[in-house]
Amino acid sequence: MAPDVEAALLVRLDDQGVVEDSGDYASETGVDHARLVEVIKSLVATDMITSEVVTHTKLVVTEEGKGYLAQGSPEAQVFNALPAEGAVPLAELKSKLPGTVGDVGFKQAMQQKWVVLNKEASGPTVSRKAASIEDSVQSALAEAEAGRAEGLAEKVVAALKKRKLLAPETWKTFRLGKGPRFARERVKEATDLTAEMIAKGTWREVPFKPYNFAALGLTPPSGHLHPLLKVRTAFRKIFLSMGFEEMPTNNYVESSFWNFDALFQPQQHPARDAHDTFFLTRPATTPASSLPPDYLARVRETHQSGGWGSAGYGYAWQEAEAEKNLLRTHTTAVSSRMLYRLAQGGFRPCKYFSIDRVFRNEAIDRTHLAEFHQVEGVVAAEGLTLGDLIGIFTEFFRRLGLPTLRFKPAYNPYTEPSMEIFSYSEPLGKWIEVGNSGMFRPEMLRPMGLPENVNVIAWGLSLERPTMILYGIDNIRDLFGHKVALSMVKSNPICRLGM
Ligand code: PHE
Repeated sequence: MAPDVEAALLVRLDDQGVVEDSGDYASETGVDHARLVEVIKSLVATDMITSEVVTHTKLVVTEEGKGYLAQGSPEAQVFNALPAEGAVPLAELKSKLPGTVGDVGFKQAMQQKWVVLNKEASGPTVSRKAASIEDSVQSALAEAEAGRAEGLAEKVVAALKKRKLLAPETWKTFRLGKGPRFARERVKEATDLTAEMIAKGTWREVPFKPYNFAALGLTPPSGHLHPLLKVRTAFRKIFLSMGFEEMPTNNYVESSFWNFDALFQPQQHPARDAHDTFFLTRPATTPASSLPPDYLARVRETHQSGGWGSAGYGYAWQEAEAEKNLLRTHTTAVSSRMLYRLAQGGFRPCKYFSIDRVFRNEAIDRTHLAEFHQVEGVVAAEGLTLGDLIGIFTEFFRRLGLPTLRFKPAYNPYTEPSMEIFSYSEPLGKWIEVGNSGMFRPEMLRPMGLPENVNVIAWGLSLERPTMILYGIDNIRDLFGHKVALSMVKSNPICRLGM
């Protein structure tokens, strides 16, 4: 339809020079005015026509006025509600009429001297004074509704405006003329200079579309990084800047041995229960024969009867339990493999980190999923103390943008002492738990073959928690898992983790 509207308008302008009023033109040609305005704008933008705004005002009957147009003015309704002879108590009269009609109508009818108020001992009553009335308000509203408001006396209009029964309505139309680039027919402007134009020389006459240097380019379709990946990158940078090396984390499936036994976690420990751990059915086990036999024997010995000042757990350690395959429940399984490897080819002090996925058979809610990511740091050196642990954390969390820390004693089967780490969150106005930590026990380190004076400090935290805080996401299911809206990934801001 649009080209026809445009073509017809150009022909009209060419024939008559001007279109005085786009509103009249629209109703005359049966075109929707809003549609016509779109055509006008596009013609003005290319300088084919000119336009001037024409502002119109007319009086229209308000919603309240429309009600009286049908029912009569409030004063007429009051008059009509009274009997020809006799009086009605004022309260009863008002209650018979809807809304404010009784109040407004009574006042107006008194002013018009259509009714009188009688002071009786039992209370005020109202009776008719005029024999008959003429509802001039209703007839004035009818005139206005019929579009003849101009014919009404100024005084009448002023009174009806004051009573909010008439109100001015304004709208805009356009006066149109020919522009500097007017043409009876729109010529499509060329956007490209072609070889043909040059060969034929037509480029001299062809109108070219001017460049629009202010136009925004299209956003190139591209990949977007998930918030977890951005925060992971930030964590990685912090670790690397502090001299940590990344551990290989590419095995979601672990044997119970590395996930639990190597960590001196007893075989009856509740965390091993199938309620917390996803055990594999195929392949269900990693044969103990694939593990270094001497290390396996030392782990068994330590669980059963201790060593290095420990009494052990005093139970019969089962190889079959250690062989069970599972989805790793923490990245400390990765750390135990690395520390064992470190103890083999001669010890050197080192700092390791890992950031990867772990799995727990948990009930899913706003803050828990059955899989999430852990960030883990491990430092091994001679003579480390709890002071080193606190010092390293303080630096790590400071670089993360969490400078105010508190430590609380905690328990892990593989660390002693153990501490939960809390950070004061200014925006939340409270202490929040940000991590768990400790010094690995001799029962874990010595069977691996690490020298007696070597201590290992470690800590772990989830990647999801700081990400949710940074991105203002309060339901973990909006961040991770199959219910995530892809638009969240596209529109979330660049991470600004303090460093
Ligand atoms: N593995 C612990 C957890 O899953 C975190 C931790 C890592 C604690 C290292 C102490 C030392 O919560």
